[in-house]
Amino acid sequence: MSEIVKASNVSMKFKAVDALTDVSLSVAPGEQVALLGHNGAGKTTLFRLILGFIKPTAGSISIAGFEPGSDSARRTVSYLPEQVAFPKMLTGREVVRFYARLKGAALDDVQSVLDKVELVEAADRRVDTYSKGMRQRLGLAQALVGKPDLLLLDEPTSGLDPLSRQHFYDLIADVARQGGAVLLSSHGLSELEAKTDRVAILRQGRLVANGPLAELQHEADLPIRIRVRTSATAIDRVHAEIGGGRINGASVEVFCDRGDKMRMLSKISGLGAQVEDVDVAAPTLDEVYRYFSKIGADEAPQRGL
Ligand SMILES: Nc1ncnc2c1ncn2[C@@H]1O[C@H](COP(=O)(O)OP(=O)(O)O)[C@@H](O)[C@H]1O
Ligand SMILES: [Mg+2]
Repeated sequence: MSEIVKASNVSMKFKAVDALTDVSLSVAPGEQVALLGHNGAGKTTLFRLILGFIKPTAGSISIAGFEPGSDSARRTVSYLPEQVAFPKMLTGREVVRFYARLKGAALDDVQSVLDKVELVEAADRRVDTYSKGMRQRLGLAQALVGKPDLLLLDEPTSGLDPLSRQHFYDLIADVARQGGAVLLSSHGLSELEAKTDRVAILRQGRLVANGPLAELQHEADLPIRIRVRTSATAIDRVHAEIGGGRINGASVEVFCDRGDKMRMLSKISGLGAQVEDVDVAAPTLDEVYRYFSKIGADEAPQRGL
């Protein structure tokens, strides 16, 4: 695989703090990877290493074969920092022009990225009149200018409402469709639903999961929730038959292993007219995330990179 970024056995120590330990992770062109972890898990540290702002204590990072921070690497990578701040006196257009000049990008590019992030109308207004969502989109615009091969986005959607978030993910998906690689961090999984190709989870500086979401869901093997709605008169019988707990006086909820699901469903269908409805829910992404961020890092299985 011709990775754009490849981190091999990277460790980063800040005096007594092991911010990252033996992390190996790569992202290929056209791929969107979500880097997840609680606060302090090491996400921003990994970005700063990829950018060459700091040097790893151990291990190595290559950006399309170049050293992080070198001129060639810097032309390859764009970054949207966690705390994005622009000079308030500038307009959106001036901000993007400034970054275009820094990167040696064509100024024609400015209008097309402003258009892409839907800031054309507000482009000549000062940044201090922008909403949070608009500032984030401007942040994305400065990262997109010059068509980088790798986009690093540090918690880009935190604080955005669901609609702006959706728009943000659509823009990122476009970048990937055009062959760009995207590494994006977040401290929650639910907002990412089906938005990324691969999920990598950091826990206290160690990579405890790295794979497509469906694979992680499968691997976590969490119980499935089955909720059975009954008539008020049948609830006792249904409860006695299938176990679990009662919800709202008219439903019974049971959790069962994936392998037991069909057996449980056929038992429920055997209850006939006592059952009014059945709802089967796979583990939520938050449950999967909680599972991986809780398991002991040392016991975590090594996954293919
Ligand atoms: N420059 C630094 N000096 C000392 N400790 C740091 C420094 N940068 C990060 N850390 C520590 O490294 C750990 C990982 O931090 P960070 O990468 O910012 O996590 P995240 O972005 O996942 O919230 C934290 O314990 C943090 O306090
Ligand atoms: Mg951070």
